[in-house]
Amino acid sequence: MSTDVEHRLAQVYGASNSSALSQTYDDWAASYDEDMLATGYAHPAVICGLTARYVPHLASPILDAGVGTGNIGQLLHTIGYSNLVGLDMSPGMLARAKARGVYASLLQGVLGERLDLPSASHDAMISTGTFTTGHAPAAAFDELARVVRPGGHLIFTVGTTVWVENGFHTKLASLCAQGVLRPVWESPIYHPMPHSKTEAHFTTRAHVYQRV
Ligand SMILES: C[S@@+](CC[C@H](N)C(=O)[O-])C[C@H]1O[C@@H](n2cnc3c(N)ncnc32)[C@H](O)[C@@H]1O
Repeated sequence: MSTDVEHRLAQVYGASNSSALSQTYDDWAASYDEDMLATGYAHPAVICGLTARYVPHLASPILDAGVGTGNIGQLLHTIGYSNLVGLDMSPGMLARAKARGVYASLLQGVLGERLDLPSASHDAMISTGTFTTGHAPAAAFDELARVVRPGGHLIFTVGTTVWVENGFHTKLASLCAQGVLRPVWESPIYHPMPHSKTEAHFTTRAHVYQRV
């Protein structure tokens, strides 16, 4: 495997702020897909399977938060989903996603800030690899819950090291206590990058919540 991917992963996990993180993804965009495939990247299969389980209508508007290069959208498009919306803060990653031609729309935005999307405008929100060390904050879930319609689903991965430490557990429990979300399903712990030389030990869970 390219040692470049290990360097890139160290850079994104160690980014000092969101503009440095965005710049790092801009620089990585051209080789991201090839690099991540070489790690045995498991999130796309897990999240596509869960989307097929919880989003029955192929024309449902689905927000892909932290869309990156659009690798998840490519797979969802292949299995028939036709109304995908991608959001990311990195213009370089968004350009790659756009080039695939599988997203109905793409927008630049920062998770953790106000999103330029109407309330209850999506049947589902999906997100992979975006709630992890040095990435999007737990506070993003206020806005992500706002843009999903009642009855819709939020389907996402969170690194196990940040689940408690970075407040995801508390934020999601609080949204459930407020009657905004209800927990639906949680995966066992798995290794999203099993062939990475440096990150094979890294662990994640996939989570599913329903908008109340
Ligand atoms: C590891 S990549 C995952 C991309 C894609 N979902 C995948 O699984 O390959 C993380 C993506 O999240 C984006 N990202 C990280 N923090 C973000 C934030 N606060 N707001 C918006 N995008 C963010 C990055 O720019 C990057 O494209």
